[in-house]
Amino acid sequence: MIATDGVVTLRAPRPGDAQAFVEGRDGEFFKWLGPGSDAPAPVACVWVDDQLVGWVDYDLEHDWLEPGEVNIGYYLFAAARGNGYASRAVELLLQHLQRDTEHAVATLLIHPENVRSIALAHRLGFVQRGEVKGEPFFTRDVRLRPMATVAEVMTTNVLTVDPTASIGEAAEKMMDAGVGAVVVMEDMVRLTGIVTERDILRAVAQRARAAEARVRQWMTESVITIEPETTVEDAAKMMFEKNFRHLPVCKDGRLLGIVSLRRLSQYEFEHSKAAST
Ligand SMILES: CC(C)(COP(=O)(O)OP(=O)(O)OC[C@H]1O[C@@H](n2cnc3c(N)ncnc32)[C@H](O)[C@@H]1OP(=O)(O)O)[C@@H](O)C(=O)NCCC(=O)NCCS
Repeated sequence: MIATDGVVTLRAPRPGDAQAFVEGRDGEFFKWLGPGSDAPAPVACVWVDDQLVGWVDYDLEHDWLEPGEVNIGYYLFAAARGNGYASRAVELLLQHLQRDTEHAVATLLIHPENVRSIALAHRLGFVQRGEVKGEPFFTRDVRLRPMATVAEVMTTNVLTVDPTASIGEAAEKMMDAGVGAVVVMEDMVRLTGIVTERDILRAVAQRARAAEARVRQWMTESVITIEPETTVEDAAKMMFEKNFRHLPVCKDGRLLGIVSLRRLSQYEFEHSKAAST
């Protein structure tokens, strides 16, 4: 194995992969990558859940590359597109270049109409540096910080409450901890809901008695959770779209942490400050 981020794994090609690559070519392949070789041998195959979904590659054989630069290529089978796998795979390839080679700068030459590929370049922090043979030419330092994931910014010390607790107790816990949400756990293990400041406000507005009203009655059920591998950007997007300020972070049904919009904004602020200094 060359590298993995828990979702996408890069592996060296194995016998049979070349044929799968030739068979997996579609119109997009020929449009942007040309006729292709009969025996493709990329640097790495992209795997997700024990399925081969594409490849990533780099080469040095171009007269427009400067010393230390490599040119990156990638392809995903049509069915695997739209899930972030190519972005993750290219990021892993860049980490591999940084860790295991002397190459310092990754480059991309992308046809101006290849919008998916240009979107990927922007997503990964590539910056356009002019044109080569009439096509936009992008570069990125391989050391650039990879996309942060929720795992890096979540709070692992999650405040929890039993569904039988009173609304007053939940509010008190939130006040003491200085947070805006408490996760409701049945028998300390099963996530059954979340109580946020908004739920407390709703309870107060409807004249609920703090000491008598139960968390079970006022919590938000069917909680939407996210996985620790989700990028900070995608988590923030999800929160804005769904109008949530807190998302519990779960993996295989296990509560690992919680992430708040406030924490995400703080991270973005610190990160953009660091990038501009
Ligand atoms: C270029 C190519 C690899 C891009 O594939 P892709 O699936 O669009 O790219 P990603 O895997 O990064 O996925 C991004 C999409 O997944 C979504 N996504 C879901 N979860 C995501 C996550 N965790 N991280 C990033 N994106 C995520 C993004 O919102 C985006 O969706 P959208 O296309 O609806 O905006 C693919 O189109 C392809 O194989 N093209 C033919 C070959 C080619 O052009 N190669 C490059 C030549 S320069």
